[in-house]
Amino acid sequence: MNFQVARLPALHFSPGAISVLGEQVCEWGQRILLITGAASFELLDQRFGILDLLQRAGVVLVARAEVSGEPSPTVVDQIVTAQRGTEIDLVVAIGGGSVLDAAKCVAGLLPTGDSVMEYLEGVGRGKVHDGRSLPLIAVPTTAGTGSEASMNGVLVDHQQGFKKSFRHPSLVPQVAIVDPDLLATSPQSLIAANGCDALSQLLESYLSTKASPFTDGLALSAIEQMGQGLIPLWESAGEDAAARSAVAYGSMVSGITLANAGLGAVHGLAGPIGGLFPIAHGVVCGTLLGEANRINIDALRSRDPSSGALKKYVIIGEKLGFCEAGMGEDAALDRVSAGLIEWVERLQIPRLGTLGVSQAGLSDILQRSDQKANPITLTEAEFSAIVSRRI
Ligand SMILES: [Fe+2]
Repeated sequence: MNFQVARLPALHFSPGAISVLGEQVCEWGQRILLITGAASFELLDQRFGILDLLQRAGVVLVARAEVSGEPSPTVVDQIVTAQRGTEIDLVVAIGGGSVLDAAKCVAGLLPTGDSVMEYLEGVGRGKVHDGRSLPLIAVPTTAGTGSEASMNGVLVDHQQGFKKSFRHPSLVPQVAIVDPDLLATSPQSLIAANGCDALSQLLESYLSTKASPFTDGLALSAIEQMGQGLIPLWESAGEDAAARSAVAYGSMVSGITLANAGLGAVHGLAGPIGGLFPIAHGVVCGTLLGEANRINIDALRSRDPSSGALKKYVIIGEKLGFCEAGMGEDAALDRVSAGLIEWVERLQIPRLGTLGVSQAGLSDILQRSDQKANPITLTEAEFSAIVSRRI
């Protein structure tokens, strides 16, 4: 057994947990930079209550920035430049994964004023971050990326065609307040796409070649919750309170497991597709979820039939409710393959072909992709079929 566990935020998880925001902020200072979504913050029923409880706690809102859509390096640099001379004790981020990712980058850059391009993996100038970041309190309002529990901020530049991370342990938020009730106003299409992102992150990290008993235990508890909550949350359009908690838990845990066990084929493709095309990350992951796992299962059965990953797939089938305990491995694997594909259809995740991706663009995507810690090395034909079957 050989594993490391990255630093975690202090986690406050419960319906209504947002009520601790004021006191949590005061533990780190009084002068905050508040980063929120634009339209998404306006949709949030609790927005006036949140601003009110910050004011009642004596918090000084010295600056506010809005992030709409998936953030670019330019957006992050603009916020840092605008706030560089401001006296800020901590950053508070309230929003979806895009907002939290942008806020992590801003918190990590404000002490130096550096451009994020100094640090961006693969495309940046390779500078080593000195570990100085402003404290960050993350409040997710969607359930998908688990960004509140991980150490990277993902940024996209569609002109350059990249989607890359600024990654450093100091970017892990000090505190994450996960209040499932904040999901109540999430549009149904976002519940579906973000939920598939979280589910895929859990499956990929559970099946990863770098998984450990530590991450397996966490991932399985969360896969079981996603099995109970994802479809009911979508069907109830966010109304089902128990389902909100299940999916918020699944998302938060997926951030922990991906940070400690890595990811597989779906996310190996999602980065390049999201860099080349303006398609939301959750939609990319959701649309690939069924086919990627079907192809993985087929490849494992034909080339590595004694793989532990196949046994893990049987357990996934039980946790997601596709298989009964004790049914034969072959039948169970068939059910998992079909079950995930059926969920993608049921949740109405669009095909890539309706979003601008064509067979002609496939080689460009594949050139920039890698399989990360997928449980089996897929052939080029298998890897490419994950995308082409969803065009
Ligand atoms: Fe993801």
